[in-house]
Amino acid sequence: MIKKPDFYDFLKKIPKAELHLHIEAVISEATIKKLFFKKNNVEFTDRAMHNLFSYEDLNGFIAAYLQVQELFTSIDDFDLIFDDLKNYILDNGLAYVEVFAAPSAFLKKGFSFSEMVKNYKKNIQKIKQETGVTVNLLIDVSRTFGEENAQKNLDLVLGNRIPEIIGIGLGGAETKGPSKDFGHVFQRARDNNLLTVAHAGEDVGPESIWDAINILHAKRIGHGISAKFDEKLMQYLADTQLPLEICPTSNVFTKKYVQIYEEHPIKMFFEKNILVTLNTDDPLFFGVSLIDEYWKLYTKLHFKKNEIKQLILNGFTASFLTDEEKESFKNAVEQTWEKFDAELS
Ligand code: ADE
Ligand code: ZN
Repeated sequence: MIKKPDFYDFLKKIPKAELHLHIEAVISEATIKKLFFKKNNVEFTDRAMHNLFSYEDLNGFIAAYLQVQELFTSIDDFDLIFDDLKNYILDNGLAYVEVFAAPSAFLKKGFSFSEMVKNYKKNIQKIKQETGVTVNLLIDVSRTFGEENAQKNLDLVLGNRIPEIIGIGLGGAETKGPSKDFGHVFQRARDNNLLTVAHAGEDVGPESIWDAINILHAKRIGHGISAKFDEKLMQYLADTQLPLEICPTSNVFTKKYVQIYEEHPIKMFFEKNILVTLNTDDPLFFGVSLIDEYWKLYTKLHFKKNEIKQLILNGFTASFLTDEEKESFKNAVEQTWEKFDAELS
């Protein structure tokens, strides 16, 4: 059994990818306080912070998420969350990140999408210069506000193409926005060479995952944990190696299919040879970092050390990097693993 500080030191040195991370949720408490003060000219109290992060389910969490988005009053506020992202990358030893950005709430309050995109690009380049890490963006067209809103978001992505935006995602309230409403949006995204991913099976049963596969043709499934109820689906996922972006702590918070960490299906999926990756979803909202998440797998779900290495490799396999880039990162994982594992034991 590795001691906690040794585990954290070791894991930090292994290059890792994170594929399911929402930029607005990498925000730090310090940034929330700054934005609140800037907007209201009064301090954001500890009690207000506690209340903000108290929710019982996915829809309650999404309401809190929208409250955080409401704190933004100008485009340069995004600089703060990209600084928080940079710190998150460094703290966790990330080598590559795919991040969701959800524009709907900002557009509703009058922000210009092209200004937002300029800001994203500037900050992504800054992170690359300062850390060497590549950040790619997936725009969450959102299922919360209906198809028309999602089509409008896609129009904006297509009208403001930058290489850093590699595709679209579908987040938000899964119970309110079924995949079938977004088939046309996803088709149009694919026709325009955008990659597509979708949250599914986080708050709705396996039928939602089938729809994300058959209607949306998603290249990865966000969460996908209700697949545990459907043997055929688990077999399909194993056969096709369609990746799942698993975020265990997030699922424990939103409670629908997992009440306690120890009963999370990630271990079963892994043993059934499904291509699972490990992610945090919303670090500040769920009080978790990527290394915490690996630690929990090690201590609560009894993943062995070599299985943790496999999950780290899966993160690169399931990414949208080129095959050469994937190989190069995976070699770096193998080499650093060997080197630091020898020092550990
Ligand atoms: N937006 C941010 N986190 C999300 C989640 N876990 N599910 C749906 N939408 C989200
Ligand atoms: Zn998510």
